[in-house]
Amino acid sequence: MNKSSFGLIGLGVMGRNLLLNVADHGFRVSGLDLDPKQVSAMQSERLEEHKLEAFTSTDDFIRSLSSPRTIMLLVPAGTIVDQVIESLIPKLDKGDLIIDGGNSHFLDTERREQFLNSKGLLFLGTGVSGGAQGARKGPSIMPGGALEAYKQVAPIFEAISAKYQGESCVSYVGRAGAGNYVKMVHNGIEYAIMQSIAEVYALFRSFGFSNAEIKLAFESFQKGRLSSFLIEITAAILGTKDPEGRGELIDNILDKAKQKGTGKWTSQNAMDLGIAIPSIDMAVSQRALSALKELRLQLSENKAQLETIDFNTLSKQAEKALYASFAIAYGQGLHQISEASKVYDYQIDLLSVIKLWRGGCIIQSEMLGDLAVSFEKEAIEHIFESSHFKPTLKETLEGLRELVLLGTKHALPVGTLSSSLSYYDALHSSELPVNLVQAQRDFFGSHTFERKDQPGIFHHDWSL
Ligand code: 6PG
Repeated sequence: MNKSSFGLIGLGVMGRNLLLNVADHGFRVSGLDLDPKQVSAMQSERLEEHKLEAFTSTDDFIRSLSSPRTIMLLVPAGTIVDQVIESLIPKLDKGDLIIDGGNSHFLDTERREQFLNSKGLLFLGTGVSGGAQGARKGPSIMPGGALEAYKQVAPIFEAISAKYQGESCVSYVGRAGAGNYVKMVHNGIEYAIMQSIAEVYALFRSFGFSNAEIKLAFESFQKGRLSSFLIEITAAILGTKDPEGRGELIDNILDKAKQKGTGKWTSQNAMDLGIAIPSIDMAVSQRALSALKELRLQLSENKAQLETIDFNTLSKQAEKALYASFAIAYGQGLHQISEASKVYDYQIDLLSVIKLWRGGCIIQSEMLGDLAVSFEKEAIEHIFESSHFKPTLKETLEGLRELVLLGTKHALPVGTLSSSLSYYDALHSSELPVNLVQAQRDFFGSHTFERKDQPGIFHHDWSL
């Protein structure tokens, strides 16, 4: 019997699609799910044609795989991953590889890697982005762990990943939890970009423009330097009719945003490491604020009288504001990755990360193509140092400033746009007012301060 070179556990939509994608690239594959319904759904695909087998029995699944085995898990992050790993261990042989393709926490991945290595097994914590469509047609893949483990699956991942100008949107990201870390920050950036787009949409709506008009604006953005997956789907969403026959669907969706936790983890870890990512933090907070629907209804006030604004003027400012917001969100996330890589010794190559985000993933955009060229040409650690982005950011920042002014003047919440602006302004200020914070800390807590004019640590006996 022909054995499969790739096994996948968890035949939900993502798992099914990824397995079909691997099979389409000429690999014989096996799928396992303990739920017979998921296995039947898989079997409804033409399995022979796809060189694919699906099982409900772990033993049959394991027997169907060639050695060393490569088994990917696409199951919900958390204890289920540990349970599946525990159930596999007694059935595997030394050198077999387990890949976790879910949104696991990077510290869980480190623990699992050490545990599995102690049993002679290999482990990769791998970020996979692109949703169900991406899994079927080509996701962006972020594998982390031992390089030798990656080499075992590299031909498959390279074949199935999205392609950007012929290059595979996958590469070895780094040691231990690096793959999940990079995916976590990808999601943090995703939150910031989505919230920036939502705030721009809210401004258009507040100034009286219809969904159809905003759709046109986003379609024109998509034709230019803002071209990206998230702008493209926003235009499509704005043009979608409500299947219940009540106007456009967007107007009937409750304004409470859910989250699975990766954006929150990005902020929590940035706080732990002392890295500033205020746009991502604010996007997480805006989801928490949105959840307070009842309180918001109770407290809601009439907004300030809106002035009229011309559609073309607002569209131009919005295009610039979004460009700056995208760039600043990428900048914050990439800076976090580069600092975390030093702290955790992940040995992440930032350029490779930028390159594998250019296609397949949720945050893919034309801008990432330019960012890759910038990081390739210049030895920079932050987008603000890039000679390509410096002038463009200066120009587009004016649009961001205008929109933040417009929003705040009319009491319209633009937290993520304004956090991006403050982040830019702070990093472009040679002086920040925290000399006063230092003085206050020293006043009430003798926490000491440094002086500008001489080295050393100082304390002053302040008095009222
Ligand atoms: C991806 C996405 C995905 C994520 C969802 C939901 O890259 O394909 O990031 O992994 O789980 O976007 O995230 P939230 O529920 O936290 O919004």
